[in-house]
Amino acid sequence: MSSINKDKVPQHVAIIMDGNGRWAKQQGEDRIFGHHEGVNSVREIVEAAAEAGVKYLTLYAFSTENWNRPKDEVDALMELLVATISIETPQLHKNKVKLEAIGNLKSLPPACLNELQESINTTKNNTGLILVLALSYSSKWEITNSVKEIAAQVAEGKLKPNDITEETISSLLCTTKYPDPELMIRTSGEHRISNFLLWQLAYAEFYFTDKLWPDFRKDDFYEAIRSYQLRERRFGKTSEQISQQTK
Ligand code: FPP
Repeated sequence: MSSINKDKVPQHVAIIMDGNGRWAKQQGEDRIFGHHEGVNSVREIVEAAAEAGVKYLTLYAFSTENWNRPKDEVDALMELLVATISIETPQLHKNKVKLEAIGNLKSLPPACLNELQESINTTKNNTGLILVLALSYSSKWEITNSVKEIAAQVAEGKLKPNDITEETISSLLCTTKYPDPELMIRTSGEHRISNFLLWQLAYAEFYFTDKLWPDFRKDDFYEAIRSYQLRERRFGKTSEQISQQTK
């Protein structure tokens, strides 16, 4: 924590929490054991993000493609989500964390959706870290929905094709309320984006670590922030232009 420059903390960090299954296998356990251990990492990283001064933390908890996993694992993950949200909400609330969710939430089992909505409602006036769970989320699903909406507005004569801007598209994504993440972290040694925030990560810095998600803890998160702080973000400009700007 002491190695972090408090003036250069990313506002929004997005994380692909990967490697629970492999972690469990290494211990000779079922995959779901890894997901349970993964919850301990979630708790620590939420705390670490709040302590570092991150404003938004988006966690990829369940992708659209994850529905294709064996039914036992999907059921166990949904039960784990319900239990975790129920158990953790009082502590989140105490720490002023505001819980939100993005994705095709209607596709979640009713018990999961109810628990989620209750927690969102309980924490809705909190002013601390905004914790966004991506659930039944995929970026292609989200972008397709926004294209459908634009097409409908054009068909109804409410929008002219020439008036469509990047802002039009951003305003129709489920992340419209949030700034784009400056930093995206993926654990477990995979170097993929896996249908996560394709539009929003256009200029994000990527941080990959071989650590499996259940082994990813506070110091690893601070190390990711430190690595981000050492990078020069050019947004298509030259290094010289950037150093002129910061003088
Ligand atoms: C990826 O590991 C992890 C998931 C698909 C689920 C993530 C869920 C949690 C960490 C627990 C619940 C989270 C919250 C926010 C309450 P994997 O199964 O793909 O691992 P593998 O690549 O090693 O198989």
